Amino acid sequence: MDKISVKAPAKVNLTLEITDLLPNGYHRLDTIFQALELADILELEKAGSTSLDITDGVGSGFKVEAGADNLVLRAHSLMERETGQSLNCRFSLHKRIPAGGGLGGGSADAAAALKGLNELYQLGLPYENLHRMAASLGADVAFGLLGGTARGTGRGEILEAVPSPAFLERLTVILLAPEFGLSTPLVYKAWDALPETKRRPARGCSQRLAGLLAAPPNGNQNIIPEFCSCLANDLYPAAESLAPSLSECQRALEEFGAQKVLLCGSGSTLFALREAGRAEEGAGSSEAAEKLRRFGKVFFTKFSLK
Ligand code: C5P
Repeated sequence: MDKISVKAPAKVNLTLEITDLLPNGYHRLDTIFQALELADILELEKAGSTSLDITDGVGSGFKVEAGADNLVLRAHSLMERETGQSLNCRFSLHKRIPAGGGLGGGSADAAAALKGLNELYQLGLPYENLHRMAASLGADVAFGLLGGTARGTGRGEILEAVPSPAFLERLTVILLAPEFGLSTPLVYKAWDALPETKRRPARGCSQRLAGLLAAPPNGNQNIIPEFCSCLANDLYPAAESLAPSLSECQRALEEFGAQKVLLCGSGSTLFALREAGRAEEGAGSSEAAEKLRRFGKVFFTKFSLK
């Protein structure tokens, strides 16, 4: 086997609570990650030297550089150091996830590189080793190894799988990626500067949602509204303080018929949920969808369940 292909799914945070500051300046989180069907594809091929080329499948406008600080190449260097072996690889990355928007695309690519190299070179590294390397590359990379639904604490890298009940399949996920990106460290800094009263709209949501996902009430017609009522992100007021036009994007999604609108991670992408069944294609060509596209790029996807 000289060539393999690995899927690198985008993620959203169904909940994101900041519970504390860590001694290293990071923010302690309690968050529930959910993988999406929207995914980058990373191809790995054994080669005489290591290279990375990137094809932009979204025309996102955001630049993803193939330089040495790209997370795929950093994951590759880390793997070589860990194993003490030369693991020459030609990486071809097909980007479908808009970059810089809080959808964890770069993190998913790094996780795919770790998993892919382990498989391509039959290294047999256990999950614990991959997890340690992933966590050292970034707070969200560890979730990229796991997928499905998971609760993250610490910086988001201490993970516990959470059940993905079937009702999640009934939801269509609409992503709205505005023209502007937001820098993750700046959004966390803006959160530090918020008055205490605006800091924790999501308090208690992760615990409530984990309970609902573990034991969804039987035959409950109202499960989707109940699910939606558990979703919140403490970083939204911080992101909005940096980019006030986020509130217009949010309104546009509500007018489009979304039952819930949330910020993806630290933004700038918003995600909205709507019960599937209303024909997306129809909506996509409608006046409402055209209006939505004035605010940014629009993608329709689903949750990816384990
Ligand atoms: O780990 P990652 O590279 O995704 O984080 C980027 C930056 O976001 C960090 O340097 C830090 O400033 C901020 N951050 C944080 N707390 C987290 C995650 C990220 O303060 N839990």
